Amino acid sequence: MKRLGILLSGRGSNFLAIANAIERDQIPNAKISVVISNRAEAAGIAAAKNLGLPANVIEARGRKRAEQDAETIACLREHGVELVCLAGYMRLLSPEFVTAFPGAILNIHPSLLPAFPGLDAQRQALDYGVPVTGCTVHFVDEELDHGVIVLQRTVPVLDRDDEASLSARILEQEHLAYPEAIARVISGRFAIVGRRYVLQR
Ligand code: GRF
Repeated sequence: MKRLGILLSGRGSNFLAIANAIERDQIPNAKISVVISNRAEAAGIAAAKNLGLPANVIEARGRKRAEQDAETIACLREHGVELVCLAGYMRLLSPEFVTAFPGAILNIHPSLLPAFPGLDAQRQALDYGVPVTGCTVHFVDEELDHGVIVLQRTVPVLDRDDEASLSARILEQEHLAYPEAIARVISGRFAIVGRRYVLQR
């Protein structure tokens, strides 16, 4: 059983998509060992409690990044976490955090990286005028939205789209992409060649 740790800050719909996929056996050999939020008011943390999963709040507000990261790393270790999944975790990880879980941190971002990193990716895509955007699941390194890409899913941008409608269309694809990416990474059947994630049969 691969033990997953979920880090979130808000709504938690990607966390729930992962939990549902595990329930339906779409991510074989995985279990969620702990859900951690840096915000007490995150809906995702209430959802985790509802599911009976260990749920911890490690507040970020008013604290040094190093201190909060150290506590988060300790909590993940306590629960034996082997793969960390950032699911709407609105905080940049310190280099110490990235080093603590080498090659074992994933993130999901609502654009086709390297286009539109950072905040408001859907707004950025609309403002730029791209006809196609999507989502990216990638390994996390020290740079923002930068690590090796595991997979991407595309969505069209429609003439009538606003930020809300585009975000909703991307989110549907996120909920498919993240479980699939986790299943692929857990299977271990891949190699990283340069920046390329290459499937091995
Ligand atoms: C998603 O759009 C994800 O791509 C981004 O933050 C949002 C989190 O949404 N990193 P949710 O909390 O999973 O519903």
